Amino acid sequence: MKPRDIVVELLSQLGSSREAREYLRKFSSKESSQFAVIKVGGEVLQNDLSELASAIGFLHHVGLFPIVLHGAGTQLNQALADAGIQSEKIEGVRVTTPQVMSVVRPVIYQQNLRLVEALERLGIRARSLQHGIFNCEFEDQQKFGLVGRVANVDLASIRSTIAAGSLPIVTCLGETSAGQVLNVNADVAAAALVMNIQPQKIIFLSPTGGLLNEENEVISAINLETDYARLLNSGWVHSGMRLKLIQIAEMLEQLPPSSSVSITSASNLTRELFTHRGAGTLIRRGEGFSNETEITGLRQSELKSLIEVCFQRRLNNDWFSEVDLESLIWAGSGRAAAVIDKGFHGIPYMNKFAVTPTAQGEGLGAALWEQISARYPQLYWRSRADNPVNSWYNRQADFRIRAGDWQVFGYGIDDFNRIEALVQNAQSRKEYWTEKLPSEGAIS
Ligand code: ARG
Repeated sequence: MKPRDIVVELLSQLGSSREAREYLRKFSSKESSQFAVIKVGGEVLQNDLSELASAIGFLHHVGLFPIVLHGAGTQLNQALADAGIQSEKIEGVRVTTPQVMSVVRPVIYQQNLRLVEALERLGIRARSLQHGIFNCEFEDQQKFGLVGRVANVDLASIRSTIAAGSLPIVTCLGETSAGQVLNVNADVAAAALVMNIQPQKIIFLSPTGGLLNEENEVISAINLETDYARLLNSGWVHSGMRLKLIQIAEMLEQLPPSSSVSITSASNLTRELFTHRGAGTLIRRGEGFSNETEITGLRQSELKSLIEVCFQRRLNNDWFSEVDLESLIWAGSGRAAAVIDKGFHGIPYMNKFAVTPTAQGEGLGAALWEQISARYPQLYWRSRADNPVNSWYNRQADFRIRAGDWQVFGYGIDDFNRIEALVQNAQSRKEYWTEKLPSEGAIS
């Protein structure tokens, strides 16, 4: 086995090896420098250094070269306090007097070297890039002191580091053209780097391992197209997260639609990157949905192949003429769709719900579900008893009834007799599958 095969084998422990291979291929498909920018906060350097080094080292082993950019906020607060220096923040920006700067520089250098050394201890080649990347102007010298606004980014040292087979470990210090060192907010520096690199992934490593919802659970995925306004308007998205979300949306706006942001922890990074489900919060520009009341020509063949890919079976063409279409809800990319049938006694029946595995990881299934439930206050559907999606369906449904080989689900219907009739109706529907497609494992 070649080292890369061994690693793929290891990765497959996280999900299926097919999944790991798919992401590895995807992340290797562009120029090496365009895989990822990873922003590491001071807190992660403080508490998770060895997890961090092994997760980054792992990427290097599989031939990926993330650009790592770090801050040192936590260590700086400590060092300033130890030195008895008062430092003030205005609008979230640390006012950097020359006295503050005398602490900032050594602390940042020190944190940079800690990470480089942790990587080297693992036998991973890494280079410390402390200067010469962010060409800056003063943000507002009167107000903030030695704080920089990035005027342009010089990628030469990053490129040559990667070309030499090393990982670039970048600080968030900038300089003016006259050589004055300026302090740049790490999120601002990360955004500037991202604009210039146009990476496939932007990764924020944080101790929480993702953005948290009202119940303090990690939100798995955010599809900005359908979720952004709702999140910003909801009371529980507090100021820090709000700001982060706005910055991320602005950043993604300027990248290709396939680029995505992941917020995760050092220990979950590998799982986040190499499985569909991930472990953290994935944010994409995402896509909208259209509601269509007929399925004609091109759409028919697109829908057919989507359904076949998702169910791994061939669909008989008669199905199209048998559907009593209420609406087709279709995702912009064509990777998710729901076919809603007029149903029985005026209650719509979900005839097909199809989401590709990658689109599931992006949260497109959940986004599609929101469209459905917003549009249809009552719904029923069926699913094979052994369908792995059933536990998810169960969470969306308020009844689930076993009927022979089927589970029938539904919501919004109170009358028990009505439910019984719907269950019978669902159970008696014809199937339109022909042969099974070769199973997952058989596709290499
Ligand atoms: N591995 C894929 C990626 O990094 C999908 C990750 C899905 N993550 C999630 N938190 N839903 O782009």
